[in-house]
Amino acid sequence: MDRRTFLALAGGAGAAAGLAGCTPLIGSPEEGKVMIFSLNQTTDHPSYAALNAWNDDLAAVTGERWGIDVYANATLGGQQEVVMLVGDGAVDMAVISGTALENLNPDYRTMNLPGVFDGIDHQVAVTNNLAIMGELYSSLEESHGITVVGMFTQGARNLYTTAPVETPEQLSGMRIRVQESDVAIDMINAMGGAATPMPYGEVYTALQSGILDGAENNEVSYVTQRHLEVARHYTLTAHQVGLDFIVVHSGLLAGMRPADAEAFRASWLRASANHTQLWKDETAAATEQMLAEGVTIHEIDRTPFVERLQPVAERYLTSDVARSLYERIRQEA
Ligand code: GCU
Repeated sequence: MDRRTFLALAGGAGAAAGLAGCTPLIGSPEEGKVMIFSLNQTTDHPSYAALNAWNDDLAAVTGERWGIDVYANATLGGQQEVVMLVGDGAVDMAVISGTALENLNPDYRTMNLPGVFDGIDHQVAVTNNLAIMGELYSSLEESHGITVVGMFTQGARNLYTTAPVETPEQLSGMRIRVQESDVAIDMINAMGGAATPMPYGEVYTALQSGILDGAENNEVSYVTQRHLEVARHYTLTAHQVGLDFIVVHSGLLAGMRPADAEAFRASWLRASANHTQLWKDETAAATEQMLAEGVTIHEIDRTPFVERLQPVAERYLTSDVARSLYERIRQEA
């Protein structure tokens, strides 16, 4: 089904549900649903594999009443658009980069700051701890109809460019694609580049045509999006341990039977552990592939970049909520 057809159907079903007194599309939320799930990655990305394994687990523990149907390759839209569709309930669930939630609630910026997480294991432990995250995860329910379930790591994000870059000075004047968020823009500008916000799906062509001089992402995205063909230098800046939130339409979650909600949570924790392992394996495999395809990987002294990033973290820790969340996360490091 192409995206327009899907959205027309979703809109039509929504309108029909309104007329018929909120009769949902498939059964009622208490009974179960195969949830429409949006992902902006290719089918060879580890998040796709982890989500499909989650579907199997979820179906098994709920007697086939609950599941997820993953639409990969951003066929349902880019993340900025899809997050709204989840709020409306036209799409049930999605993987949404941390930077996109920043635009809905500035407290989410804390999760995207350089230095907030020491690494993947610290990040996974913190983000599955609802005593730390619970308030933030439910903060968009009333305003946007979105609940965060947890996150998949994006691992360390690194720079990649058309010409070699090992220092902030070499990055000067280079147009570097970033995600559409204040923190992402500030990080690259602080590192010395000229941050250029742009949706994920437009990066390959922009690199190829010379509109961009580079971008930044983890090894897995760099390889699966084939950006390695058009920006041949990969510099290990590790300026951010990125994360992708798993969001669900709040009404759907609230409508689950308590036993199903419990099974859903336990199943999520298994999916999270599975994704983390897959992520580590696939990052190693992506690095091998980069070398096999002739990419130059620059291992650098990160100090000059780290020093420039420090003020960015401080700039965003201004509200009480942001500061206490940051401190709580650092205590777990
Ligand atoms: C990573 C991340 C995506 C995000 C992308 C981007 O691939 O997993 O959720 O959209 O980076 O840079 O836009």
